[in-house]
Amino acid sequence: MLDDLIEISRQAAEIIRDGYRKNFNVEFKTNYTNLVTEIDKKSEETIISFIKKKYPTHGIIAEESGAENKQAEYVWVIDPLDGTTNFAHGLPIFSVSIGIQKNAKTVFGVVYDVMMDRVYSAEYGSGAFCNGRKMKVSQNDNLNYSLLVTGFPYDVKDNPGRTIEYFSAFLKNSRAVRRLGSAALDLCYVADGIFDGFWEVSLNPWDVCAGKLLVEEAGGLVTDFSGIQRDIFFKEILATNGKVHEQMMNTLK
Ligand code: IPD
Ligand code: CA
Ligand code: CA
Repeated sequence: MLDDLIEISRQAAEIIRDGYRKNFNVEFKTNYTNLVTEIDKKSEETIISFIKKKYPTHGIIAEESGAENKQAEYVWVIDPLDGTTNFAHGLPIFSVSIGIQKNAKTVFGVVYDVMMDRVYSAEYGSGAFCNGRKMKVSQNDNLNYSLLVTGFPYDVKDNPGRTIEYFSAFLKNSRAVRRLGSAALDLCYVADGIFDGFWEVSLNPWDVCAGKLLVEEAGGLVTDFSGIQRDIFFKEILATNGKVHEQMMNTLK
């Protein structure tokens, strides 16, 4: 199943790469900040038609077309293009992110970095890999020396919540904070020991399903802002190397 997952992610990545910086149709979902392109839809259609052919009894939760048979033993959780705003503007930071859950527990995860041609993969209990190389989270235990990453929800202008306060607090007590625009890749970089920590206030299951498993399998910790482990449907996420987790939780408090 992991081989199939990698293969279909590669095919979806190819569709996205072919469409990069070409003319494609762009629509607004909720407002002018929340986009979907015809390439997002093409990628998702390709992934779903593969699942339906090869695994017809499996369920699907997909960003653009919704959920189907989600009570099934196996459920595929699909973000066909994570980083649509980057893609639409020609910034080469975006991915395909697919996790497979068995009885509501993530057992496989793949994030395909489209433009770097890197496949991040994990199977529960077997470690996390980047193009076959085993990944490990960073060993830094000092938040002041950390490189952090975050993202902002599409409705941040209407519902800023505490996003600005969090960002400003981490700017003051870390080495630097980045905002890349693909939550799935943010999580891969935590798994690969590049970022020490990632937080975001309002994500969806398809943003985090694969990446959460990657971080955990690379030895990291993923919780809500108060340190409680949650399922993929929980909105807020704090993913770290484990060693700066408490310091990040204290900052978020
Ligand atoms: C978005 C990206 C972004 C995050 C947003 C997500 P999309 O996903 O992961 O980094 O900050 O919250 O919605 O819409 O490009 O698939
Ligand atoms: Ca996404
Ligand atoms: Ca998406």
